[in-house]
Amino acid sequence: MAQILILGAAGMLGRDLQRETERRGIETSPMDVAECDVTKPADCERTLEAIRPEIVINCAAWTNVASAEHHPEETFAINAEGAGNVARACAHALCRCIYLSTDFVFDGTKNAPYLETDAPNPVNTYGKSKLEGERRVSFSAPNHAIIRTAWLYGQHGPNFVRSILALRHGQRPVEVVNDQMGSPTWTRHLARAILDIALSKETGIFHATNSGSCTRDEQARLIFELAGTDPDLIHPAPTSPDAVPQRPADSRLSCDRLSGLMAEPMPDWATALEEFLTEIGQRK
Ligand SMILES: NC(=O)c1ccc[n+]([C@@H]2O[C@H](COP(=O)([O-])OP(=O)(O)OC[C@H]3O[C@@H](n4cnc5c(N)ncnc54)[C@H](OP(=O)(O)O)[C@@H]3O)[C@@H](O)[C@H]2O)c1
Repeated sequence: MAQILILGAAGMLGRDLQRETERRGIETSPMDVAECDVTKPADCERTLEAIRPEIVINCAAWTNVASAEHHPEETFAINAEGAGNVARACAHALCRCIYLSTDFVFDGTKNAPYLETDAPNPVNTYGKSKLEGERRVSFSAPNHAIIRTAWLYGQHGPNFVRSILALRHGQRPVEVVNDQMGSPTWTRHLARAILDIALSKETGIFHATNSGSCTRDEQARLIFELAGTDPDLIHPAPTSPDAVPQRPADSRLSCDRLSGLMAEPMPDWATALEEFLTEIGQRK
């Protein structure tokens, strides 16, 4: 009997969650899609019966926002139906269900950080599928927490920070959008917040990101600067009006509820980025 079962454990966040449970000495079962496919209700039930966890953290997802537009059925199968399958299995096994969601459930027009109680209005397929996942989790699993996060990067996956780092080798100007604002979040810091929420008795929705916010071009400038590349090679550019999928322009999340729960507050996004680049040997 493991205390925590992580689904989608081979992904970017799943890998850092495993590291954090290990660091805290928590007995954990990590499962990838081959071991438990969340789109199959029988897989979810069988896995929970075998492991008998106290807490399930569901990181399994279709996370490619662009390709979700061309694969809505597959996206909904994992992000919405899969979330529901896991939630029902948790309810049946009387265990706590933690579901990872996204700032993309909002349309980005509030012009202030979103509260957990603000009305969602997703503008793309990925956001719609995650919102439907939230609804199924809150409907099916009485003991649940939904954790909305944003702009993730980490050691174990393709992400914006790694893409910008790769571009610096060209020493050529790079256009980056300057009209999308959010809170870049290191999966290592998020893993700590997730475990603090998971191990608490609190239910409902939490927002969890590194603190502070920036635009994508500001984030890219800091990546170049910290990596020893001229930040002026980053050229700010507006989002194309025809860009598909649409993305929220300002999806900052208010994390006050989380702050009341964590022993240590989430570091600010620039400090986190510097720590991450140092960790992967890219800080000059
Ligand atoms: N990345 C971000 O910027 C971001 C922002 C906000 C919220 N989130 C949310 O945070 C969570 C973790 O994201 P991440 O960036 O760590 O994603 P990720 O790296 O894409 O990991 C997702 C994992 O889910 C697995 N998976 C896919 N289909 C599955 C299925 N049917 N059954 C079981 N596992 C399945 C994937 O396996 P394969 O690789 O083998 O398909 C992968 O290991 C997700 O819920 C995501 O929606 C992410």
